[in-house]
Amino acid sequence: MKQSKTISENKNRDIIKEIGKNILMGIPAFRRWRATRPRSGAYFTGEDAELERYAFSGLNMLRDHIGDISGKSILEIGAGDFLTSGLAMLGAGAESYGVIDNFPGDYTGAAAKRWYQAIEENWSRFYPKLSWAENIRAADFPEKYAERLELIAKPIETSATKKKYEIICSFQVVEHISDIDAFAEMHNRLLAPGGVAIHRVDFGPHDCWFYYRDPLTYLQFSDSVWKMSGSNRGTPNRFRHHEFLAAFERANLQVEVPRTDNFKEHLINFDNLHPRFKKMPHESLLVGTAIYILSRKLL
Ligand SMILES: C[S@@+](CC[C@H](N)C(=O)[O-])C[C@H]1O[C@@H](n2cnc3c(N)ncnc32)[C@H](O)[C@@H]1O
Repeated sequence: MKQSKTISENKNRDIIKEIGKNILMGIPAFRRWRATRPRSGAYFTGEDAELERYAFSGLNMLRDHIGDISGKSILEIGAGDFLTSGLAMLGAGAESYGVIDNFPGDYTGAAAKRWYQAIEENWSRFYPKLSWAENIRAADFPEKYAERLELIAKPIETSATKKKYEIICSFQVVEHISDIDAFAEMHNRLLAPGGVAIHRVDFGPHDCWFYYRDPLTYLQFSDSVWKMSGSNRGTPNRFRHHEFLAAFERANLQVEVPRTDNFKEHLINFDNLHPRFKKMPHESLLVGTAIYILSRKLL
């Protein structure tokens, strides 16, 4: 949620570029080529900060907000290119790990293996008080653990799993899904009785909008223009904090919000927002990231 970097801002030029990229992504051959390129996380180059961000941050969030995960079944939505957070969770003692990602990465290629090896090798430095689980070896991951893994290459909105999970989690994913009611309702389908879900949502700008001084510049476009710039690319859905809370309420879920981080108010020009957003509560528009903890209400 960086807000200070300035560039030469030209909204019209940038939205046209984004529409161009979206048109390219609508061409099947281009899309196939793009699918071979890593996205988030890319390659591990040996930096601790990379491990922290792409391997351990999900596990840390579970440990901070849910507690000990040993023996738990965990389902992650939108793991990204590799099963880095999954291996870390299994290393911390999780019993099983499932992932649902409609655009999965290459989980078994050389780049993935380099990540997995680094996670096990560096474990004791990051977690001096937490032993690496004896029943998992990075060198054999993921091939030899089929019975502890469930890998589903479909959108979360409609996915079914073989079993219900005790923990469902996602990190920087929910701002990309298209149907937030289907997302909320999914918990009633996939969460085990007594289970808990945790989602970190990034309401900030992505792509070129990230470099604009006003972090909500990307809310200045109409829905139809926004769709033209991102319908083939999974750009943010632009749902706001209060809309997620309402969707969780409609799905009859119990919600806790242990943490939000706000944008700096003085950077936002509320008058420039598209009318759809202009009428929204400012306290919701100001939320830059949020962590939601959800459980099913007792009937
Ligand atoms: C921004 S990446 C985040 C990756 C990773 N969680 C991280 O923090 O680096 C979003 C991920 O969510 C997946 N995704 C987006 N929409 C989805 C959906 N409707 N169902 C399942 N996965 C989805 C994408 O394919 C991608 O892997």
